[in-house]
Amino acid sequence: MDHFHYRNRELYCEEARVADIAERFGTPVFVYSKNTIVRNLKTLNEAFAPLDPLVCYSVKANSNLGILKLVAELGDGFDVVSGGELARVLRSGGVAEKTVFAGVGKTDSEIASALQAGVLMFNVESEEELAAIDRVATTLGMVAPVALRVNPDVDPKTHRYISTGKKESKFGMDIDRSLRLAEQATGMAGISMIGMHMHIRSQITTVEPYAHAADKGVEIIGKLRAMGHPIRWYNMGGGFGIAYRGGESKSIEAFAEEIVPRLKPLGCRMAMEPGRVVVGNAGILVSRVIYKKKSGDKRFLIQDAAMNDLIRPSLYEAFHKIWPVRMEEGGPDLPENFESEIPGTETWDVVGPVCESGDFLAKDRHLPEVHNQDLLATFSAGAYGMVMASNYNTRPRAAEVLVDGSEVQLVRRRETFEDLIGPELVALES
Ligand code: LLP
Repeated sequence: MDHFHYRNRELYCEEARVADIAERFGTPVFVYSKNTIVRNLKTLNEAFAPLDPLVCYSVKANSNLGILKLVAELGDGFDVVSGGELARVLRSGGVAEKTVFAGVGKTDSEIASALQAGVLMFNVESEEELAAIDRVATTLGMVAPVALRVNPDVDPKTHRYISTGKKESKFGMDIDRSLRLAEQATGMAGISMIGMHMHIRSQITTVEPYAHAADKGVEIIGKLRAMGHPIRWYNMGGGFGIAYRGGESKSIEAFAEEIVPRLKPLGCRMAMEPGRVVVGNAGILVSRVIYKKKSGDKRFLIQDAAMNDLIRPSLYEAFHKIWPVRMEEGGPDLPENFESEIPGTETWDVVGPVCESGDFLAKDRHLPEVHNQDLLATFSAGAYGMVMASNYNTRPRAAEVLVDGSEVQLVRRRETFEDLIGPELVALES
């Protein structure tokens, strides 16, 4: 499982013992494997090499500066959706020229600062937004490079909250509307339409939606060029799925095999915005069991990570593998996949201390015997984990560490109570 593996029945991240990390930095703690991220980015670049790709890592998946710095050092680009994310990229050594700016609600000031920073292009999501970009660029005496975000109207077979490529979506524009807008854009002095953008949805596990989108994309680019737009970029968005259970997603190479030959004749450079596939399986969330409890027929394992640390199970009913950091002698090994019954296990709801019945990391989950104070690893927590964390119940957010071989670097310290109340402006006697 990537660079997380058991040795002598103990979980390691690369060459670092996870139990040592938990001892040193406390729990809950996110542990990231640097070499998994490096490998994933390399695989993406190699698989799409015939399209001269620019991999724009999607910052929303995990925006820790330590990870952004690593991506920047490898020479890859970024996909940002706010002025804040752009500031993170620039602060960590990333360059604006390799950064695409997406998002449905860019404000004038975000547009102006992205233009001045020199972003590669804006992904435009509506008529009004294009008009705003034209206006801001003209005022600044600049020309804004843009890509229209088109919805290929591919039917999502994913959770409804993470699907975006349908016609009736908040994101992008349907094909007819996009083409009408592209006509209008030919007369806009502040706009240079250099690309087309399509992001279908997230956690796509099969090749068909991409094949379908690419076919439509080729057709649309032909029409945009016929209007006189100098389209040089095909931005395929993100969305490559990962294995949460084991083996359920196609590999990056399999996606490329389908996409590359379809786009090669266009003579465009390929931009892509992968997030989950870069960092998802490069991270785990480590927690400690506090109590075990029975209620009716249910057994609850109460541990110190909660929905405020990893909200995906509560919000999307997402599945994350959970397994003890130390496997007992004679107990079951971490299964290859969680599709079937696992001998030697008991069924638990893994929950946190937050006061919501929706606070769980797993329901009816098979786990080997676990004792109070044991450490648990929740896998595939590198993407949309810490970035979606909150301080609900006045819980300080977890620490984050980045592991490189046997080196363990704290890339975000655990928050303190003072961090949490710092912005509150009330005179109190201390
Ligand atoms: N590009 C655009 C325009 C996007 O909207 C997204 C994700 C990405 C790229 C990156 O997608 P990825 O490669 O990571 O699938 N919080 C949800 C996922 C939300 C995805 C939002 N957009 C989750 O935890 O599953």
